[in-house]
Amino acid sequence: MTQAANGWPVVAVTGAGQGIGRALARAFARQGARVVVSDIDAASCAAAADELQTLGVPADVTRAEDCAALVGRTVEAFGRLDVMICNAGIMQLKPLLELDASDWDRMLGVNVTGTFLTLQAAARQMLAQPPLGEGRPRGKILLMASIAGRSGAGPIAAVIPHYRASKAAVISLGQSAAVALAPQITVNAICPGLVETDMWQRMDRDWTALQGAPRGQAWQQRVAAVPMGRAQTPADVADLALFLASPAADYMTGQSINIDGGLMMS
Ligand SMILES: NC(=O)c1ccc[n+]([C@@H]2O[C@H](COP(=O)([O-])OP(=O)(O)OC[C@H]3O[C@@H](n4cnc5c(N)ncnc54)[C@H](O)[C@@H]3O)[C@@H](O)[C@H]2O)c1
Repeated sequence: MTQAANGWPVVAVTGAGQGIGRALARAFARQGARVVVSDIDAASCAAAADELQTLGVPADVTRAEDCAALVGRTVEAFGRLDVMICNAGIMQLKPLLELDASDWDRMLGVNVTGTFLTLQAAARQMLAQPPLGEGRPRGKILLMASIAGRSGAGPIAAVIPHYRASKAAVISLGQSAAVALAPQITVNAICPGLVETDMWQRMDRDWTALQGAPRGQAWQQRVAAVPMGRAQTPADVADLALFLASPAADYMTGQSINIDGGLMMS
């Protein structure tokens, strides 16, 4: 685990009210990091802050002023920001020909614009602070992409075109930001597969409604295709985030890494 010159690393996580974000916050807190949790949902943000006995900052990542406030309050509380995890995201199942511009804009607004605004606010702070240690970057940014941003495999791809496009854009944004911010800041994207969270439960429910398939079928079929033989847990994702935030990954930037039990091999 990284250790900044003035103490344990300071890590902020967006979308930390539940699911993968909450698990990431727990994992970093367990390692001794000073974690700031953030979410658009004020109640779940407060619950996460309460659980981890830390600072919670409600923020909508689509608003630049909220992203700046998240970074500002983190620095006020802990003096710097070592790791920003741009995790907040949304999902919607809707067939391609039924999608309208507002579905498209909302998806790209949260998943792409929100990631961009969070990354930009974090980078501005990181460039202005001393490095994490001698010869080390000034900060690290992790983006939550998805294997859905890589390939159209599986019938569900037909009903999440805007989600898939948003995650491909996150991967691309990470590459541009890595070039723009090197060598001061590393930027890497995580591509999870089939993670057991509310997001997937909602997908399964909506797939049932669209296809008339039995409840749970989409989930079970997808899990059956995972070479590692089980669904992914949020803790699996957290393990990769811990590695990317550590000194062991200081030479990695601009990468997007699949962590999906072998669903996608590249
Ligand atoms: N669950 C999966 O299988 C899976 C797979 C690959 C990638 N992902 C990605 O991982 C991330 C987390 O997913 P999850 O499964 O934990 O989802 P989730 O729906 O359980 O949690 C997402 C969190 O983001 C918050 N959020 C939504 N819009 C926001 C906004 N505008 N500003 C701030 N917070 C906002 C929600 O309130 C929620 O707490 C997402 O980016 C998702 O696309 C998930």
